[in-house]
Amino acid sequence: MINASTKLIGLIGNPVKHSLSPIMHNAAFKDKNLNYVYLAFEVDKDRLKYVIDGAKALGIVGFNVTIPYKVDIIKYLDELNEEAKLINAVNTIKIVDDKAIGYNTDGIGARRALEEKIGKVENYNILIFGAGGAARAVAFELAKNNNVVIANRTVEKAKSLAEEISKKLNRRVEYSGLNVDDIIEDIDIVINATSVGMKKDDKPLLTSDKLKNKIVMDLVYSPLETVLLKEAKKANALAIDGLGMLIYQGAEAFKIWTGIEPNIDVTRKAILEVLKK
Ligand SMILES: NC(=O)c1ccc[n+]([C@@H]2O[C@H](COP(=O)([O-])OP(=O)(O)OC[C@H]3O[C@@H](n4cnc5c(N)ncnc54)[C@H](OP(=O)(O)O)[C@@H]3O)[C@@H](O)[C@H]2O)c1
Repeated sequence: MINASTKLIGLIGNPVKHSLSPIMHNAAFKDKNLNYVYLAFEVDKDRLKYVIDGAKALGIVGFNVTIPYKVDIIKYLDELNEEAKLINAVNTIKIVDDKAIGYNTDGIGARRALEEKIGKVENYNILIFGAGGAARAVAFELAKNNNVVIANRTVEKAKSLAEEISKKLNRRVEYSGLNVDDIIEDIDIVINATSVGMKKDDKPLLTSDKLKNKIVMDLVYSPLETVLLKEAKKANALAIDGLGMLIYQGAEAFKIWTGIEPNIDVTRKAILEVLKK
């Protein structure tokens, strides 16, 4: 029941109406009997500067941050944790003692989703399609202890991300355009971190003949079975959908705000109910 003691957590972004985070977090608060509520706030660009001071004034516990503010919000925060500093993007904020601290749980969310299916992700050859926000967080996380190649439509962006990660982590990260014929044989794990697969008529970035014996993860979760995952299934490869990352990045944020790990089965079920509608 919402009452005078209820604590507020918000999502800021634009647009936010499609977000599944309120469903996921409110289900987890209820399940854990926590007196919190999670709401989505669509924030105009010219009002972003008021969000953190307003939140401090109101005693808001924290936020998730989504497109297009994961980088722009940083200048209004008091501190960043190691991960957010490394990636230079924030998807979670907690306000403690009037200090707004930024975190990034996207990379660890993707790692947990993979590890749930295949165990420790270490020393694999990983191909990541995309060089946008999601690819960035996932590539930084997985390049810590795997060999990563970043492949992107705009090759310049793949190059600059690969160079930035190589420099910051002191590990060699390769890059490529979308044609990966020369390297695909040596790849163990393929991750789609582009938006390809969201539209009905999208063509897969790789077809089944290239996916035999691979582990294939798509970050796109709407639809859950993307064109790439259909190709993976045709090749009898392990196909991992984007729901896992969504749930685990949320679980990590939930822990930051409340100190408690949410029940993953509860959050998964709540989201699946909405996605299936
Ligand atoms: N499961 C999760 O929890 C989770 C979390 C975050 C994001 N995602 C999903 O990940 C996807 C990417 O999100 P984002 O935030 O990284 O977006 P973003 O920053 O806008 O980046 C989009 C990426 O997709 C590429 N791309 C777009 N259209 C393409 C096309 N027709 N062919 C080839 N590449 C194309 C872009 O390449 P260029 O650089 O060449 O434009 C860029 O690399 C979205 O579908 C989102 O739903 C999932």
